[in-house]
Amino acid sequence: MPRRQVNPTRRGGTFRPKSRACPRLSAALVSLGTFLLIGYLCRSTGSFKDDKEVSKIEGDFGCTFDVQKLILVLKRTYGDNMRKVLHVGPDTCSVVSQLIKEPETEAWGVEPYDLEDANTGCKNLVRKGLVRVADIKFPLPYRAKSFSLVVVTDAVDYLSPKYLNKTIPDLARISTQNLVIFTGDPIHSKAEVPQQPRFGRSVKGKTRSKSWWARFFVQTSLEENEVAEMKFKQAASEISYKPRCQIFHLNSYH
Ligand SMILES: *[C@@H]1O[C@H](CO)[C@@H](O)[C@H](O)[C@H]1NC(C)=O
Repeated sequence: MPRRQVNPTRRGGTFRPKSRACPRLSAALVSLGTFLLIGYLCRSTGSFKDDKEVSKIEGDFGCTFDVQKLILVLKRTYGDNMRKVLHVGPDTCSVVSQLIKEPETEAWGVEPYDLEDANTGCKNLVRKGLVRVADIKFPLPYRAKSFSLVVVTDAVDYLSPKYLNKTIPDLARISTQNLVIFTGDPIHSKAEVPQQPRFGRSVKGKTRSKSWWARFFVQTSLEENEVAEMKFKQAASEISYKPRCQIFHLNSYH
């Protein structure tokens, strides 16, 4: 699994002294770095930063979406099956923190990359055991049918078919009923996901066509849930929710 490149401005990496020849300047730069770091930490302690800030998943993944709208549409689609939700994908903290505000919804998250730049709210979710970092190439540490709904966003484009063959059935295994997969859409990806700086230079998102996925689901014995797909499309159009990706609604194995 590719690792997210650390954002140098957040760690003060750009201030790291390069030369040993001028220790005084180095010391000054280090204190400046510390000062900025403390400033940054103070700004983000307490609760979550601005809800707006955390709830908007940045456009450097395959889908650009708004977490609040995503949850609203999922609720209208899956209703009672929103009791125990697992989200798998980048920035899962923002999704989980919104989901747990919903009445009668419990939520967990799997972050497939890393949480080096996590804010305090996110670290609290990790401490409570609601969010964990896990490489989804390997079986997830949950029992079969642990969740009523499993939602996967922007986490499978980077897996080769060899791993997809294991990972997607494993995601279906831990869900009692429904699995929703948000994945890159080749229509958008040519222009927008040629290379994803956040993941470092080695990673290119590989978006696959609708027919590729349809074949894949047949091979892995997963059925698409047409009723859910219809409900989701309708709910999404009602609130003008337009994620820029392909969305597949699947029934888990019974
Ligand atoms: C994935 O599984 C399918 C069906 O079981 C198989 O035909 C295909 O060769 C597998 N792909 C890889 C890369 O293992």
